Amino acid sequence: MAGMRVTLRQLQAFEAVAQLKSFSRAAEEIHVTQPAVSKQIRLLTEEVGLPLLEQIGKKVFLTEAGQRLHATCADWLDTWGRFEQGIADLKGLKQGRLRIATVTTAKYFLPRVLGPFYAEYPGIDIAMEVVNRDRLLERLSRNEDDLYVMGVPPEGRDIESEPLMANDLVVVAAAGHPLARQRAIPLRDLATHGFLVREQGSGTRMTVERVFREQQVPFEVRMELGSNEAIKQAVAGGLGLAVLSRSTLYPDGDRELAVLDVAGFPIRRYWYVVRPKGKQLSVVAQTFLTFLHSHVQMLSPKS
Ligand code: PGA
Repeated sequence: MAGMRVTLRQLQAFEAVAQLKSFSRAAEEIHVTQPAVSKQIRLLTEEVGLPLLEQIGKKVFLTEAGQRLHATCADWLDTWGRFEQGIADLKGLKQGRLRIATVTTAKYFLPRVLGPFYAEYPGIDIAMEVVNRDRLLERLSRNEDDLYVMGVPPEGRDIESEPLMANDLVVVAAAGHPLARQRAIPLRDLATHGFLVREQGSGTRMTVERVFREQQVPFEVRMELGSNEAIKQAVAGGLGLAVLSRSTLYPDGDRELAVLDVAGFPIRRYWYVVRPKGKQLSVVAQTFLTFLHSHVQMLSPKS
C-alpha cells in the first residue's frame, strides 16, 4: 500500500457503494451528489491501480481488489468512527451520532421519544433502522448500531439486555366478527380459523408459533404478510385473525378491529434494550438510554 494517496472521503464513498451496491443510494447515505461519489471512486481506482467496481446494467459488483479494499475499509472506518465519536464526546454532547435499530413493533412508540430528546440535544444526529427480529440480530452481530430495541433477545449470546416496557400480544379480528362477542375463548377454538402471520424472521411470529405449539393447538396460516400494517388491513377486511403486538393498534384509530378475549392472552412480553456484551457505550448512547428509561411512562401505549 506504500505510496498510495488515498483520502478518507474516497474510502467513505467506496464503502457506501460497496455496502449499498448503488451509486445513487451511496450518495444519499453520505449526503453528497452522485457525480461526487463517482469522482471519489475514480480517483481511488487510479490510486489503487486496479478496477474496484464493475457495473453490469444497473448492478454494481466488487472486483477482487474491491473486495479486499472493502474488508480493510470496514474495519478502518469503524476505528475512525470511534475516534470521531470520542472527540464529539469530549465536546460534551454538542454533537455526535446515535444509531438505533428497532424491531417493527417498537416503531409505534420509540420515535415519540426522539422529539423531546432532539429538543434537549439538537446537535445529535440520530439514525433509526426499523427491521424485523432476524435482520436486527444480523445488525447486532455486525455491531452496526449503538443500541437495539427488541422483543425476544437471543439466548446464550454475548449480549446484555435490560427490559424497557411491556409489549403484549393480543388476538385481533374484524370488528363485526362473531368471536368478538365471546368471552374467555379457549385457544383450541381458534384452530378452525385462518391466521394472517408476519414473515419468517419476525419475533411476533416466532412467539405466536411457540404459544400454539406449547398448547398443542394446530395453527392454520392463511396468509403471510410482511408488515403489521398490512396484517391489520387484511384482518379489518375479514381475511382472518392475527396475533399482533398491542402497540400496533391505535386506541382511537382502529375501530375496524376487535381485540378478542382469548384464554391466556394478552401474552405479556417486554421490549428490551440490547447491546453486545462489553460494548463501551458512547456518551451520546448512554445519555439516550437514560433518557429513554425516564420517558417510558410517557411512551406506554394506553390500553
Ligand atoms: P418483529 O417484532 O415481529 O417485527 O420481529 C418483534 C417483537 O415485537 O418481538
